[in-house]
Amino acid sequence: MMSISPTRTRATASSSALHALMAVGGLIMVLFLLAHMYGNLKVFAGQEAFDGYSAYLRTVLEPLLPYGGALWILRVILLLSVGTHIWAAFVLWHRSRAATGGRGGYRYQSNAHRRGVQRSYSSFTMRWGGLTIALFVVYHLLHLTVNVISPGGASESPYLRMVNGFSIWWVVLSYAVALVALCLHLRHGIFSALASLGAATSEVRRRRFNQLAVLISAILLLGFLVPPLCILVGWVGP
Ligand code: HEM
Repeated sequence: MMSISPTRTRATASSSALHALMAVGGLIMVLFLLAHMYGNLKVFAGQEAFDGYSAYLRTVLEPLLPYGGALWILRVILLLSVGTHIWAAFVLWHRSRAATGGRGGYRYQSNAHRRGVQRSYSSFTMRWGGLTIALFVVYHLLHLTVNVISPGGASESPYLRMVNGFSIWWVVLSYAVALVALCLHLRHGIFSALASLGAATSEVRRRRFNQLAVLISAILLLGFLVPPLCILVGWVGP
């Protein structure tokens, strides 16, 4: 009779499983970003509407959940997603370097590009882009969530925190740089995530997913940038 081997390998020994984990974590964050971008547009409805929306986020599902409960559930989901995404990226990077004697970037040989390496600018900047986004998120949370960094003046009102901060050109510029890095990352990442999950099964689908990745990245770039720019030029104010 055949016996089951006592030395089963862990699923994460498979690089495909790690790519799939990274994809799921990334796609959850894309959903969050679309919702966050949409929520930010409430700034055009004025201070009362924006601050009311911020307060509402903390009372969702009350009294079923305590005050802030739903927001904390979202934070835990985001932390797990970002943690899994970064961890899988590190393990895969390590494996790629180990498999190629430290020359991981030169594996994708191609005749289609002059340098003989099949990589777009977005795909080339995935790791630096990821690091830029991670640093931005820390800066952004200290600025607009915990209000520790308060360019233009601290405030209890999320609306005034935004108006105070984005009235300063270099704050808008720092957000713009981070958002460009984010959207380059997503332009390649969304396509890769769908491919990692096995959905890019034909040339037509690959083309459609590429278009979808460009569309979502462009919507996010524009949607996130419009409120700070409108504040900077004075169309939205205190
Ligand atoms: C111009 C672009 C952005 C603006 C104006 C903006 C604005 C804000 C504001 C006002 C808050 C505080 C909300 C509140 O306390 O009710 C916030 C929270 C947050 N933002 Fe952004 N955001 C932007 C881009 C981003 C990006 C690109 C990311 C992620 C890559 C991000 C991630 C977060 C996170 C994780 C929170 C904390 C949610 C929480 O735990 O309370 N934001 N944002």
